[in-house]
Amino acid sequence: MLKQHPAIGIVGQGAVGLLAASQLALRHLPCHLLTRDPQLATLVLNFRQQQQDHSLLLNCRQPQRPLPLLLVPVKAFSVVQALQQWLPSCAPDADIVLCHNGMGTLELAQSQLKSSQKLWFASTTHGALKSGPHRLQHTGVGRTMLGPINALACHSSPPAAVLAAALGPLQVVTDILPVLWQKLAVNAVINPLTALLMVKNGELTQPQYRRQIDLLIDEFCLVAQAKGQMFDPQTLCQMVLDVATNTAGNFSSMQQDRALQRPDELEFITGFLLKTATEAGVAIPAHQQLYQQLRAVKPA
Ligand SMILES: NC(=O)c1ccc[n+]([C@@H]2O[C@H](COP(=O)([O-])OP(=O)(O)OC[C@H]3O[C@@H](n4cnc5c(N)ncnc54)[C@H](OP(=O)(O)O)[C@@H]3O)[C@@H](O)[C@H]2O)c1
Repeated sequence: MLKQHPAIGIVGQGAVGLLAASQLALRHLPCHLLTRDPQLATLVLNFRQQQQDHSLLLNCRQPQRPLPLLLVPVKAFSVVQALQQWLPSCAPDADIVLCHNGMGTLELAQSQLKSSQKLWFASTTHGALKSGPHRLQHTGVGRTMLGPINALACHSSPPAAVLAAALGPLQVVTDILPVLWQKLAVNAVINPLTALLMVKNGELTQPQYRRQIDLLIDEFCLVAQAKGQMFDPQTLCQMVLDVATNTAGNFSSMQQDRALQRPDELEFITGFLLKTATEAGVAIPAHQQLYQQLRAVKPA
């Protein structure tokens, strides 16, 4: 049944996109990598997963028929442009699946779709690292939560089979917003702090950071509450420390982006929190200070 499924399009050759494409390739399921280079026909990928090495040939040919399903695993700041570029390759009733960290893209993305297209969000805890143009490592086995974003998706069947093959195990939820807010809480602590201090995630488990983490989480809960999302600060704090412990040897994506002088997702993590807090009339000075410190040292 799954083998009959028309090809999914995956935007880009980033870590998450290649992870999804490699999982599909391992299962002999069709997919198109939609790359910036229109001349690229195939991509050889050396993929390492659970101590096993695979060499995979990925299809980068332009799709000949409109795509029924598009996965958009790009950084939050690339979502609008990626949709502009690739929505014309999609069927009028296609399923479009966003997959990124941070928040603040949903309204714009919805406005870019046809009214007959369904918008979904996939939030994943898988870890993937690209250590070269042809080399990918599955650094952390996670899972993915999928939920509807626009009204049409709320009343449609989710593209669960293909996404489970690509980024499973998959859990489909009717309301993805609490999942996105919870992930934002973790990202709004670990990403900016590790990027500012230029340390691995595990450093944040040291006792000297505990007060600042508590403060950041307390402020986060005030903003979330203003948007109808209720969290227990102690539980969230423990979640942040668990993630820092479980990924102790990793650098966060924001730390890596800044170390390599690439654009980062600060605007969609702390920036989104600040904007939402201002709209709600909530003061979040600890996040504000972190944002300003990071902006002050941001490479030109
Ligand atoms: N990596 C992880 O372990 C992980 C885990 C969970 C969540 N996430 C989140 O998932 C998102 C994707 O992460 P990632 O690590 O895969 O990022 P990434 O490695 O930067 O991948 C994004 C890729 O998309 C490409 N791209 C952007 N716009 C495009 C377009 N219009 N057409 C074709 N290609 C386009 C980028 O190309 P250029 O480089 O040329 O712009 C880049 O290769 C981020 O929000 C990240 O925070 C990542």
